[in-house]
Amino acid sequence: MDKAPIIEVKNITKRFKGLTAVKDVSFSIREGGITGMIGPNGAGKSTTFNMICGYYPPTEGRIFYRGEDITNKKAYEYTNMKIARTFQIMKPLKNLSVLENVVASCYFGHAAAKSEREARERAMEVLHFTGLYDKRHILSKDMGTPDQKRLEMARALATKPELLFLDENMAGLNPAETEAAIELIREINRSGVTIFLIEHIMQAVVSLCESVIVLHHGEKIAEGTPEQVMNDPMVMEVYLGTKGGAAHA
Ligand SMILES: Nc1ncnc2c1ncn2[C@@H]1O[C@H](COP(=O)(O)OP(=O)(O)O)[C@@H](O)[C@H]1O
Ligand SMILES: [Mg+2]
Repeated sequence: MDKAPIIEVKNITKRFKGLTAVKDVSFSIREGGITGMIGPNGAGKSTTFNMICGYYPPTEGRIFYRGEDITNKKAYEYTNMKIARTFQIMKPLKNLSVLENVVASCYFGHAAAKSEREARERAMEVLHFTGLYDKRHILSKDMGTPDQKRLEMARALATKPELLFLDENMAGLNPAETEAAIELIREINRSGVTIFLIEHIMQAVVSLCESVIVLHHGEKIAEGTPEQVMNDPMVMEVYLGTKGGAAHA
């Protein structure tokens, strides 16, 4: 029998003054899976993400986590619920080393380390897992974009989440770096963490996600497997500007 979804979003709408950024959107996130959200710029992806992460509440609608209504919970309450997002705790501490950054994150949330030894041990594990171990003594500000993104994931993982949210974590990466990031996300998922990600890079969504939600002008226009949504006429029109699928510049 299928388990209840880990997250259920019911009819959420977000209005900013005159603008409706997200309109009556509903979907759910399956526990143990990787669910993706795509859509053109301004489609309402980050706004949806921010509502689910407790950054601000929806104007209308409700959000449930394991059946519990979390619509009005604040972002700082989320780490205790075993939910992490990149950028969640703080921006990387620029003048601290990679190791010190990860150690600091180990003190947050439901699994907050009770001693420095525990924090350092967990940080070392996370650094091995994310491939940052050899760079642990570098100041975070001295690293390039791919490693900064890895550090964001490492800091999120240091809180031992069951659910991880990633908002355009691969932006600015070249194809080889994207491939490495995809592999790391897959490994994180294999270790038992449910993932919800917003991504611009179609290749990443297609290769990682079992289920994809497509937003356009604040509305959900499609949902299904990557194959289903890529072949959806409405999605093709939005992405390629044609119903037939033949792209023209
Ligand atoms: N805090 C805000 N105040 C006013 N308008 C906003 C705010 N955040 C987003 N918007 C607007 O909402 C729409 C959706 O934005 P966003 O969710 O960031 O889209 P996406 O992440 O899909 O590119 C855009 O028109 C954007 O300008
Ligand atoms: Mg965005």
